[in-house]
Amino acid sequence: GDLFGAQRRNSVGLNLSDPEVLQQLQQELAAMWGQTWQAAPLIAGQQIRGEPHPVYSPHDQHSLVGEVVFSSANDIEQALQQATRAFDDWRLCPVASRAGYLLKAADLLEQQRLELVALCIREGGRTVRDALAEVREAVDLCRYYAACAVEQFAQPLHLPGPTGEDNQLFHFGRGVFVCISPWNFPIALFIGQIAAALVAGNTAIAKPALQTSLTAMACLRLLHSAGIPEQVLQFLPGDGAEIGRHLLSDERVAGVAFTGSSATAHLINRQLAERDSAIASLIAETGGQNVMIADSSAHQEQLVADAIQSAFNSAGQRCSALRVLFLPEAIADSVIARLIGAMRLLRVGSPLDIATDVGPIIDQRALAALHQHIEKLEHDAKLLYQLPLTDDLTNGCFFPPTLAEIPALSFLDHEVFGPILHIVRYPANELAKVVEAINASGYGLTLGIHSRINANMRYIQEHAQVGNIYINRNMIGAVVGVQPFGGMGLSGTGPKAGGPHYLQRFANEQTLTTNL
Ligand code: NAD
Ligand code: ALA
Repeated sequence: GDLFGAQRRNSVGLNLSDPEVLQQLQQELAAMWGQTWQAAPLIAGQQIRGEPHPVYSPHDQHSLVGEVVFSSANDIEQALQQATRAFDDWRLCPVASRAGYLLKAADLLEQQRLELVALCIREGGRTVRDALAEVREAVDLCRYYAACAVEQFAQPLHLPGPTGEDNQLFHFGRGVFVCISPWNFPIALFIGQIAAALVAGNTAIAKPALQTSLTAMACLRLLHSAGIPEQVLQFLPGDGAEIGRHLLSDERVAGVAFTGSSATAHLINRQLAERDSAIASLIAETGGQNVMIADSSAHQEQLVADAIQSAFNSAGQRCSALRVLFLPEAIADSVIARLIGAMRLLRVGSPLDIATDVGPIIDQRALAALHQHIEKLEHDAKLLYQLPLTDDLTNGCFFPPTLAEIPALSFLDHEVFGPILHIVRYPANELAKVVEAINASGYGLTLGIHSRINANMRYIQEHAQVGNIYINRNMIGAVVGVQPFGGMGLSGTGPKAGGPHYLQRFANEQTLTTNL
């Protein structure tokens, strides 16, 4: 495959600007609003029975989406046994065959996107557009990792040496990989981790976020129906800490692909480090404290549109979302007025409605954390604007898009995961201090720049320790193969998801030297 050239194409998804396509999608989705789903541990293809726990929609806490059975200690042991046993064959399964399963899965995702989209909206609270984009990203990830594996792992790399010996470098899977994913991208990130682990030759145990177990189960079934053998991919829904405690201390786990909060990544890292067995490979993609810096040359209309989208799309529940906008004194008041004007136009509502811009917060716990943050802002900073919510949203976990001014980036001592945009004013000649503050936060995920001054852009890019930088545009929605995604420091270990080096950490390297 031509991974990096003009041949590579991303999935096109659905064209919602075509009224017929939109109308058909809305009708098909509406038919699924009453449906319920089940999730349960899936061990070697066997669905485990147990006590079901109800799952309700974040936009309407009376609306039942389905039931989930949590994994028991016995299920975890069975999953480990199956995944360990299956590894011997899977590691020798030709790379092209493993890649073939991902290509098939990508086709099935495109053909069967409707159910996944409906689930992602009802269980995950994602808007229709976000849910469609997720399926698109999952398709892209499957195809991209399939192409990477074939290009990088199918043939050994020949390494000519001075001695006349023949030297080859091979890649093999590491063993059992545990894939732990967050709720905020319940399709794309769930499938992306599994796809990478499997195509690199590992067997996988998938541990989805509890909040989106039903969506994950539907994805898992789709992967199996693409031909991925049942023994090779196990599914363990349930409470993260509980499952983590049993699973991660086990020496059969060779690696962990984790996406979630920085705090959980630290816990997992410690747990793995306590084992006396082989040192596990940990890929952690974690949170951010993402900043956009405008200078006085910024185009204000464009800045405002991009800041609004970056801060409030997905109700701010993206790791990439904008949290703090740095404005130079000279333009601060004017930009704030424009931001408030643009916020008034946002439509907060049910994700079942295509017109919704800002959907619900994932659950009551996350909602409470945002309310707590507002108290801190009211006490120690300045609330500038909160969009009033309409009366029909009281059954759901809704939070108003909010604008606040804080004295400094260091005022935020944790990732605020919701639709709250903070402003910090800075003297125009203190750009270097802004960059220092970003680096001092310890996080380094996304960064936006709005400027027409080359020296400023270059200075920020060269000095800011962040993974993804966007100039004069929004800072969300990284595209597979185009904007490989991931941070540094507290934001992640790398390698970047959807990038050419991602698979390497999932594989062991072996050199073979033959004296001819
Ligand atoms: P979380 O850390 O609470 O949970 C993530 C996953 O870890 C879930 O599956 C959870 O069940 C599991 N988990 C929790 N405790 C565990 C433990 N002790 N052992 C093993 N597993 C455990 O995060 P979340 O609330 O689901 O997701 C939101 C977070 O994810 C935010 O911080 C966001 O920035 C981050 N995120 C990062 C990226 C990225 O690419 N960098 C992408 C999406 C989300
Ligand atoms: N990849 C996602 C984004 O860029 C997290 O928004």
